Amino acid sequence: MLTIEPNEIHVWLAFPDELHDTGLLAAYEQLMTQEEKNRQRQFVFEKDRHQYTVTRALVRTTLSHYSAIHPADWRFCKNEYGKPEIANTAVKDSLRFNVSHTKGLIICGVARRHAIGVDVENIYRRNAVLNIAKRYFSPQEIMNLEALPEKRQKEVFFCYWTLKEAYIKARGMGLSFPLEKFSICLADNEPLGISFDPDVNDQSDRWRLWLFKPTDNHYMALAVCPEGARLGKVTFMKTVPLQQHEVFLFEANSLNYLHERKDKDE
Ligand SMILES: CC(C)(COP(=O)(O)OP(=O)(O)OC[C@H]1O[C@@H](n2cnc3c(N)ncnc32)[C@H](O)[C@@H]1OP(=O)(O)O)[C@@H](O)C(=O)NCCC(=O)NCCS
Repeated sequence: MLTIEPNEIHVWLAFPDELHDTGLLAAYEQLMTQEEKNRQRQFVFEKDRHQYTVTRALVRTTLSHYSAIHPADWRFCKNEYGKPEIANTAVKDSLRFNVSHTKGLIICGVARRHAIGVDVENIYRRNAVLNIAKRYFSPQEIMNLEALPEKRQKEVFFCYWTLKEAYIKARGMGLSFPLEKFSICLADNEPLGISFDPDVNDQSDRWRLWLFKPTDNHYMALAVCPEGARLGKVTFMKTVPLQQHEVFLFEANSLNYLHERKDKDE
């Protein structure tokens, strides 16, 4: 069993393209509720069924690292916007999680009591990023992107995108939250930040944001509302659910770590 202190964030990473063992995949299916099995069967493409199955196994086995609850025994409820939370009464007030999946990578962020949101995106998936930005981003973010040389735009677009998604996922409100009414501050030599239009009910200093590039193809963002706690470092674990896990260290020579917002008093 692992412990997670109130000042810690753990992020578990599963690489679905590396998981092919049919026995293991069958064991993952055994962990799912009937409702999850029904949903899994509704996916038309095998790759989507696979992604769904590994996601369920990742969530269930990850949470069981922090509690005596068996992976098959986790139960979940959703808020009015669809954010899944733990329903098991023994732990529902002391463990929070959030999941994100994209081609080639699935992540599950875990915290004690803090609201947490995570997002991972595969950067080769989208082109015409300015058009997408003009639809979803704030005027400030669009202006910043337009000012960049074209070859930098896609990279910065994904920084904005993943951080914005992580924030709205931490809030648990999905796309009902107005994406254009808050801005991510990504300036060089400045901590990662977030600012809100005056009519948005939130404050910048409630939030800590992180941005990482765990592989050449992926950007990954975390948003956590520490509510007074002094958050320590984020720990990453690479896992093959039900089999093994190890601390995941990004390769040192490829600028994988982008920004970390420091506590103001550090
Ligand atoms: C549903 C949404 C919360 C995330 O969607 P997404 O980025 O496509 O998908 P992700 O893989 O990051 O996250 C999906 C997971 O988030 C969780 N989730 C669902 N609703 C959620 C909510 N309201 N809040 C937080 N998490 C939520 C679920 O666990 C879900 O996975 P599951 O269905 O397998 O359990 C929502 O933000 C969305 O639809 N975004 C679309 C992307 C977009 O247009 N972004 C605009 C540019 S920033």
